[in-house]
Amino acid sequence: MATLSNIKKPLSEELKTFQKVFRKSVKSKVPLLDVIMRYILKSKGKQLRPLFVFYSADLFGEINESTYRAATLIELMHTATLVHDDVVDDSFQRRGRFSINYLWKNKIAVLAGDYLLSKGMLLALENKEYNVLEIVSRAVSDMSEGELLQLEKARKLDISEGIYYEIIQKKTASLLASCFATGAATVTKDVAEIERMRQIGEYAGIAFQIKDDLFDFEINNKTGKPSGIDIKEKKMTLPLIYLLSKLSMLEKRKIINIVKRHNTDEKKVGWLIKRVVESGGIEYANGKMLEYKNKSLNLLKEFPDNQARQALISLIEYLTTRKK
Ligand code: IPE
Ligand code: IPE
Ligand code: MG
Ligand code: MG
Repeated sequence: MATLSNIKKPLSEELKTFQKVFRKSVKSKVPLLDVIMRYILKSKGKQLRPLFVFYSADLFGEINESTYRAATLIELMHTATLVHDDVVDDSFQRRGRFSINYLWKNKIAVLAGDYLLSKGMLLALENKEYNVLEIVSRAVSDMSEGELLQLEKARKLDISEGIYYEIIQKKTASLLASCFATGAATVTKDVAEIERMRQIGEYAGIAFQIKDDLFDFEINNKTGKPSGIDIKEKKMTLPLIYLLSKLSMLEKRKIINIVKRHNTDEKKVGWLIKRVVESGGIEYANGKMLEYKNKSLNLLKEFPDNQARQALISLIEYLTTRKK
C-alpha cells in the first residue's frame, strides 16, 4: 500500500509551487487577518485536493499554469469551508490544533472564512479562469446546501440512508469531484472526459466522507479532530442510521431520544455507541465505503494505464485506508 508521502513524491516540485501561490493569495495587511492566515498556513492538512487536481491533469497531458490555479482555488475554498464548518459544528480542534473559532470566536472565524473564499474567487477572476471558477463555484454552492440539509436533519432527526448519501455527496463529494473535473479541464476540452472524471471524484468523495464519519466513532482517533462530536451535534451518520434500520419502533424511539435530549450525557452516548458497534453498523458503513471506492476505481480503470492513473488509484485507495 502506497503511503501519502510516496504518492506526493513525484509532485514535490509542483506542490512547492502550489504552496507558494497559496501563501501569496492569503496575505493581508490587516494585522488580525495576517495573524490568522499565518496560523492557518502553519498546519497544512493532507493537501489531497491539490494532489487530485495535479494527477487528473497529468492523466490528460501537461500540468500548466491553470492547473496550479485550480489546485490553489480549490484548497482555498476547502480551507474556508473548514473554518466555517468548525463554527457550525462547534468544534474546538482542527489539524491537531485549536480551531479558529476556539481561539478567536465565531464572529472572527466567519469573517476569516469569507476572506479565504473571496481570495479564491479573485485568484480565478484575475487570471480569467472562468471555466475552473464555474466548476468550483457550483461545488461550493452544493457544499452550503449539504451543510444546511445536514442541519435540518439534525433538527428533525428523521434522516434516512438515502438522504445521508445526498448530504455527503453535496457537502464533501462535490468538491472532490471538482478536483478531478478541473484538473482534467485545464488540459483537455473534451466535455465527456471531464464529466467522467467528475463522476470518479464524486464516488471517491462519498467513500472519503463515510471514512471521516467512521473516525468519529473511534475513541482516540489520530485525525487531529475530536471524536464523538457527531452525536453531540445530533448528526446521525451511516453506522447509526444502520442501527436504527434494524430496530423496532419502540427501541428506535429510545435511541432517538438519546440523540435528542441526552446527546451530551457521556454515559448514555457511550451506551448508544456500544449499540451501534454491536449492531454491525461499523462494518456496514465500511462495506458501503468500499462499494463507492470500487465504483470510482472501476470508472478510472477505463482509462489507459499510466503513471498518473496509478497515482490516482493509490490516492483513492488511501482515502479509505488512511488513519487521519
Ligand atoms: C476534512 O477534509 C473535511 C471533510 C470533507 C471530511 P480533509 O481530511 O481533506 O482535511 P485536511 O485538509 O487534510 O485537514
Ligand atoms: C465536512 O464535514 C466538512 C465540509 C464539507 C465543509 P464534517 O463536519 O463531517 O467534517 P470534519 O470531520 O469536521 O472535518
Ligand atoms: Mg465538522
Ligand atoms: Mg460539519
